[in-house]
Amino acid sequence: MILDNKLNITDQIELSKAEERLSKQKAKEMFDSGEIAKVKVDTFEGLAFIHAYLFDEIYDFAGKIRTENMAKGDFQFAPLMYLEPSLEHIDALPQSDFDEIIEKYVEMNIAHPFREGNGRTTRIWLDLILKKEIRQVVDWNQVNKEEYLSAM
Ligand SMILES: Nc1ncnc2c1ncn2[C@@H]1O[C@H](COP(=O)(O)OP(=O)(O)OP(=O)(O)O)[C@@H](O)[C@H]1O
Ligand SMILES: [Mg+2]
Repeated sequence: MILDNKLNITDQIELSKAEERLSKQKAKEMFDSGEIAKVKVDTFEGLAFIHAYLFDEIYDFAGKIRTENMAKGDFQFAPLMYLEPSLEHIDALPQSDFDEIIEKYVEMNIAHPFREGNGRTTRIWLDLILKKEIRQVVDWNQVNKEEYLSAM
């Protein structure tokens, strides 16, 4: 099953390629334009802003909470009925050091608020919090994808 999209693409490989290209382009534009500097980044509101910015040209659900239950591998993300309360809980989590920030990131991964694009959006969100709180960011080029997924 392929996701309905604004590009009217019906082939999954073609959609994945277009999505990757567009979301990367939009991510760069979000930083270059200074738009991201105007947003309060460390809450779900900031995360939704990033998601909307990256995916608005591709999906109607850009920036919007998913409306179905989701799993990846054998891991079930937050059930729909607990999603909004869990986002409120995550907003209030502390973020004063590296461990707290990573814990907040992991909780947001478990919430998995969007139908698609959670990884890309939440990695940017993580970096913005790290930068704000401890003046460091992740060099994602040094992160092996399999090890990252296994850690998540
Ligand atoms: N088995 C799993 N258990 C927990 N989290 C997982 C699992 N598989 C994937 N994830 C998380 O979900 C993210 C992928 O979610 P989604 O497909 O919505 O995001 P994406 O941006 O499209 O993908 P990607 O992160 O691969 O670029 C991964 O980056 C990882 O953080
Ligand atoms: Mg994906």
